[in-house]
Amino acid sequence: MSRASVLLLGALALASCSGDTTTETRSAVEHGEVLFTQPELSPAPGNELACSDCHAAEPAPYLSGGSLAGATSRTTFWSGQELTLLGAINHCRYYFMLADEPWTGQEVEARAIYAYLESMTGDASPASFTIGDVVDPGPGSADRGKAVYRGACESCHGAAKTGLGAKTPTAPILPDETLAQHPLDEYTVEERRLVFVEKTRHGTFFGYGGQMPPLSVEVLSDAELADILTYLEVP
Ligand code: HEC
Ligand code: HEC
Repeated sequence: MSRASVLLLGALALASCSGDTTTETRSAVEHGEVLFTQPELSPAPGNELACSDCHAAEPAPYLSGGSLAGATSRTTFWSGQELTLLGAINHCRYYFMLADEPWTGQEVEARAIYAYLESMTGDASPASFTIGDVVDPGPGSADRGKAVYRGACESCHGAAKTGLGAKTPTAPILPDETLAQHPLDEYTVEERRLVFVEKTRHGTFFGYGGQMPPLSVEVLSDAELADILTYLEVP
């Protein structure tokens, strides 16, 4: 959907606000549910990511941002780094969706997202998010790695070795492009494996840059990371 039509949807939702509260709330929730799946929620031209690429309304395996059910009742976000829901969402829009301007919370889109989040009832306790250690997880199972890769990495990077079906053109084909960018005359074998581990655990953070979200230990265990590296045949 183009950005113009998103704005139009917003205008329609606003127009419906003069109706009775139930209709107004329901249409805002429906509007939010649609926006949740749309990269146009960020005006940045290079952004291909939507809230739904990293979050769901209920617990789902391998989603970096986890379930947002109950999020409007949580008292802290991002492991205590953000104290408001708006701040937490702006964090995602800035780091992962490349939006320069934070939402004030008054935008039609922001209000619709809020209504949608509020409609997901669930766990109000702060989500636990543990940044894993950047250590070589050792050998794993290629068979399990295939399934884990599909769940955790493939939606953005596309299929291993070909990149087929990649969502974000900026995401490298794994492992080949990443290995090529870290040649053996500049990096040791151990350092090259750690690039995969560090990127998975830190994403764009800790000076790494880019747009990739970090995957916590709760989302992906060290054993599963070992399975992925074995499946990808990272030497
Ligand atoms: C590329 C992945 C990604 C995208 C896109 C993304 N998020 Fe997030 N989001 C995360 C990660 C990772 C966290 C940190 C998870 C945690 O703290 O448990 C997070 C945290 C959050 C939190 C705080 C949860 C908590 O309890 O700590 C909220 C709320 C949130 N995101 C909403 C959104 C909304 C709304 C959008 C769309 C506008 C969005 N996110 C887009 C990955 C993403
Ligand atoms: C939500 C989308 C998304 C998911 C999920 C994702 N990545 Fe990425 N990844 C990216 C993007 C975009 C880039 C390029 C920009 C950047 O570096 O952040 C990238 C870059 C990388 C790089 C290159 C690092 C470098 O320095 O060259 C590696 C390695 C990587 N990802 C591994 C993984 C692995 C392994 C998984 C699954 C466990 C995964 N990614 C899941 C979006 C994603």
